[in-house]
Amino acid sequence: MILYTLAPVTIALSAVFTILAAISLVLHIRRQKFRLASDLQVLPGPRGLPVLGSSHIIGRYDNPWDGFSALRKKYGDVYGVTLGSRRCVVVSSLAAMREVLVSKSKDFANRPNFLRFHAIFRGDRNFSVALCDWSPKQKTRRELAFPYMHPRSASHGVERMNSFITKELQDLISSLLTVQNQVIEPRPFILVCTANIFYQYLCNKRFEPKDPTFQKVVEIYDVVFRELFQGFAIDFMPWLKVFNKKRLQELRDKADEVTKLTETIFNEHEETLDENNPRDLVDIFLKHIKEDRKAGGKLAREDAEVTVDDLCGGHSVLGNLWLWGLYLVAGHPEVKERIQAEVFQATHNHRHPCLQDKLSLSYTEATALEVLRVVSSPIIPHVATKDTSVQGFYVPENTMVMFNTFDLNMDSDYWKEPRRFSPERFLTKEGRVLKPSYFFPFGTGKRTCLGDGLVKSTLLLGLGTIIQMFDVYLPEGADAPDLNAIPGLVVPRNEIKLIFRHRQSPVTINAKETSVCLTL
Ligand code: HEM
Repeated sequence: MILYTLAPVTIALSAVFTILAAISLVLHIRRQKFRLASDLQVLPGPRGLPVLGSSHIIGRYDNPWDGFSALRKKYGDVYGVTLGSRRCVVVSSLAAMREVLVSKSKDFANRPNFLRFHAIFRGDRNFSVALCDWSPKQKTRRELAFPYMHPRSASHGVERMNSFITKELQDLISSLLTVQNQVIEPRPFILVCTANIFYQYLCNKRFEPKDPTFQKVVEIYDVVFRELFQGFAIDFMPWLKVFNKKRLQELRDKADEVTKLTETIFNEHEETLDENNPRDLVDIFLKHIKEDRKAGGKLAREDAEVTVDDLCGGHSVLGNLWLWGLYLVAGHPEVKERIQAEVFQATHNHRHPCLQDKLSLSYTEATALEVLRVVSSPIIPHVATKDTSVQGFYVPENTMVMFNTFDLNMDSDYWKEPRRFSPERFLTKEGRVLKPSYFFPFGTGKRTCLGDGLVKSTLLLGLGTIIQMFDVYLPEGADAPDLNAIPGLVVPRNEIKLIFRHRQSPVTINAKETSVCLTL
């Protein structure tokens, strides 16, 4: 009764209270925002032109990172720059990079909304695992893929990885023997090898190297990843879309070819799926989707397919890195000789190296790290999910963050003679590998690379085995590698030419010993 009579008053009071609470919340948010903005400094940086922003400044340099480094000298470790219509922050110091990637990883968890990304990933970049914004779906995708891509040592996963890498390396050796002593472009040989490693590890699928569908897909991935690793005017001036319709359509058509292959692989897996015994990453996704569907889960098969597309495509990135590695080793005979001596110590050249030999291959591993350092793959840009700050500078929501890792990897405060190719810098006095904390070639934090395990294992065995079997040379008259002129991870098309000469006498591979290693 009392309740009944008080009800209208209660309702009225509640309404007034709710309105007051809402007003005070809005005022609080605005105050916070204002305080955030007013306590913080305004980003220094060049004043841009209408429409172009400061693109004309960066455009003066062959390599945009040289442009960003030049602006750093003028404006400091954190500065703002508008490219076309896109507001960006460029961070160049270790502290600023750590703040963005680690301590404020939530505030900077998104990726840029470039039209090209949508074209490549079935019309919506949020299908992609690498270029989507952060979301619960992305969290699930990463949680499913991360353990699979980082198997624990001595596990079945490592055994499979070892077996696929070593078997494909044997095929690569056979192919290179057919062209030894000639000046060749090793790119197609390396890409077929890495593609088959990746397809087997992720999807249990191996292709005959001459299979035309396979060759086409490898070629498409090469083109697409070249696209992804470069900046284009349309990314910063989306209105240029009208002039780029044909190119965007070509990208879509290429991506469709890859989609067809992945769909076939998923269909084959679905028909033979045993939920209790997932065979590979495709099965892990299919099993999750099936179980999750009952609970109203959000992950669709298309998300899983694009994730697998994305990860398989990593073979092209790795292929490019491996090419740089061979080129740099060929240009540094002293490094080549030390790798050959180390592999001999580990295997007596009666077999090829395998992952079990890792601790005995410290110099080779250090060489792989040194290749990663000088190649300096840029970290994929991040985007602010809300108004936030870096190193005390105000950064509004949607600002794109670019990381000048090249400056960090070539900073003489961190590295002795940074412009010298010197694997020793990653070795302790006792000869163990030491990766310093200021070197993070695979990024760090919430959106760190998913492929680093496969990359490190393939590069270690790839360099070790090829250098064990061949003396690799630069063609006569070719310039020695110039560390200032390596334009990033992607090797310019047809640029690297090498000669592979079979090392006859010291290598007497014994099939029995090799097979022991294959089954680790
Ligand atoms: C070959 C050398 C490679 C290098 C130097 C490299 C480096 C990187 C870097 C710096 C990032 C960005 C991290 C960040 O934003 O904080 C990244 C992201 C990523 N990488 Fe790699 N990567 C390599 C190869 C691969 C391969 C082979 C794969 C696939 C198997 C792969 C899969 C990914 C994915 C999926 C992401 C995005 C993760 C996310 O956004 O949540 N990467 N990688």
